[in-house]
Amino acid sequence: MGHGKLKRFAENETFRCLLQPDASQVLDRREGVSGRGLPLSLKDHDIKGRWNEHMFGAPQPIVLELGCGRGEYTIDLSLRDPSYNYIGVDIKGARLWRGAKYAEEQQLPNVAFLRTRIEFITAFFAPGEVSDIWITFPDPQMSSENSRLTSPMFLERYRKFLRSGGVVRLKTDSRFLHEYTKAVCEANSLEVIACTDDLYANPGIEGGGALYEVKTHYEKMFLEQGFKITYLAFRLEHEGPLVNPSSFDAAYWRAAEAPRTTNLRGGTID
Ligand SMILES: C[S@@+](CC[C@H](N)C(=O)[O-])C[C@H]1O[C@@H](n2cnc3c(N)ncnc32)[C@H](O)[C@@H]1O
Repeated sequence: MGHGKLKRFAENETFRCLLQPDASQVLDRREGVSGRGLPLSLKDHDIKGRWNEHMFGAPQPIVLELGCGRGEYTIDLSLRDPSYNYIGVDIKGARLWRGAKYAEEQQLPNVAFLRTRIEFITAFFAPGEVSDIWITFPDPQMSSENSRLTSPMFLERYRKFLRSGGVVRLKTDSRFLHEYTKAVCEANSLEVIACTDDLYANPGIEGGGALYEVKTHYEKMFLEQGFKITYLAFRLEHEGPLVNPSSFDAAYWRAAEAPRTTNLRGGTID
């Protein structure tokens, strides 16, 4: 591991706004592990239901950014609308370091970061504790439906803690993931409140100025490569089972998806 990464990891330990739990704090080892190495059961982390009390300056509705990387949305939204608290979630500490360092230096009272696998997210949030969710440029996971952050398997996790009628916002370069998520909404009668397969050709889409003005690290790379940016926002209601979409033509959209270059210089992209 490079010296720069080690330095960031050491600095991460000093950031008050960054929670980096050990896996042992959320995995119930007594239950063993499944074949894929995922826990069969999770146990609640102490912060669950207590984010406002322990991490923020004021009790306010909480917005999550999942797979936040450097946390561009988390930081920018916190400055645009200080009446919410924001938490960026990612597994990569070297990326989270950027957002967390900025939040520490600027002493932002309404920003926190959580380093965890999103698969464990229900261990950290209590029913109704989260107001809305942003998902920014996630890996499309074209060969594994249950790994997609907008699959019914993940939506089932989110709705355990999302307020009733809470909004999930997906901004992505991946037409595959955009079409898949549309199919999930259709199959489950989830109310779509905004949808476009070419965001910048359609000004005025619901989502606020940040939707157009904040460009994440990955978004900039994909824009440079000429890809269109898509956006989909939908309400995730609590009632009813969620099913996988049978109408989604994965083979078609997989073939339609042009390859991305995510590491243009061949170096680190943290
Ligand atoms: C393509 S990057 C996008 C990062 C950032 N949102 C952006 O737009 O620049 C996807 C991010 O999701 C994170 N990620 C992917 N799967 C994850 C998981 N299961 N749990 C936590 N983070 C995950 C990766 O570490 C990575 O930072």
